Amino acid sequence: MLVNLKEILAPAYEKHYAVGSFNCYSYETFRGCIAAGEETGKPVIAAFGAAYLKNMSLETAHAIVASLAREVRVPVCLHLDHCSDMDIIYRAIQAGFGSVMYDGSMLPFAENVANTHAVCHVAHACGVSVEAELGSLAVGADSHEGRTEDVEQYTDPAAAREFVAATEVDALAVSIGTVHGLYKGTPHIRTDILADIHRAVDVPLVLHGGSGTPEEDLRACIARGIAKINVNTEISSAVVAQTADLLTREKPHYSVLSLRQVDYVKAAVKKYIGMFG
Ligand code: 13P
Repeated sequence: MLVNLKEILAPAYEKHYAVGSFNCYSYETFRGCIAAGEETGKPVIAAFGAAYLKNMSLETAHAIVASLAREVRVPVCLHLDHCSDMDIIYRAIQAGFGSVMYDGSMLPFAENVANTHAVCHVAHACGVSVEAELGSLAVGADSHEGRTEDVEQYTDPAAAREFVAATEVDALAVSIGTVHGLYKGTPHIRTDILADIHRAVDVPLVLHGGSGTPEEDLRACIARGIAKINVNTEISSAVVAQTADLLTREKPHYSVLSLRQVDYVKAAVKKYIGMFG
């Protein structure tokens, strides 16, 4: 069943669990992600990043997810991850995505507000939800999304209050110490800042950089308003490592390799779903 982000996050925010948002860019990742949701009985967000438009078009991503979602009982949301290009955002809405993330976090505050508000205006008229971001994450190891020049800038709770009121976003991504990619040292997650943001706004909060974040930190974040947790790097690393290992022992037909990779994705996604409450 395909749903938008607002529908999938509302019960999570109210009942204090988080819905996993897993980056997908191939048939294997979409199928593994949705199968993990079905086998655990948990809703899932299949996140297709604008960075993966070379892998498939928005329309193909939608066709695959719409078809797979029809075969399962759990709610599935097709979400456009990190996108600063308004044209791509509007094309995703037209293609049938249930949610888009307009990422204007690198812009001056007023410009981020204006663009996010414009996206919300169009998206909401089409029944599509919007996630936006304030603050920025540092980049860790092996990230496919972060840029080396990315600097950590924690989200300011007062700015978050003003941003949410002015834009009418459905979910807000925050920066509180997680990184895109794997941590280079010990994670230091600022749950104190998160608690302040949670008090300041009344929308579900989003934690980017889920890979490698300790379970106790994830649970502390969920108790303070995080209702969506993004995971990318660790799924990719797990699939690549297991594929490399398999190929030292067997040379399977490519069709068989594809099925194995669906299983590798599914196992990595299930591990995270199990931590999200
Ligand atoms: P990781 O690659 O660190 O899991 O982050 C994923 C993410 O935040 C996607 O937007």
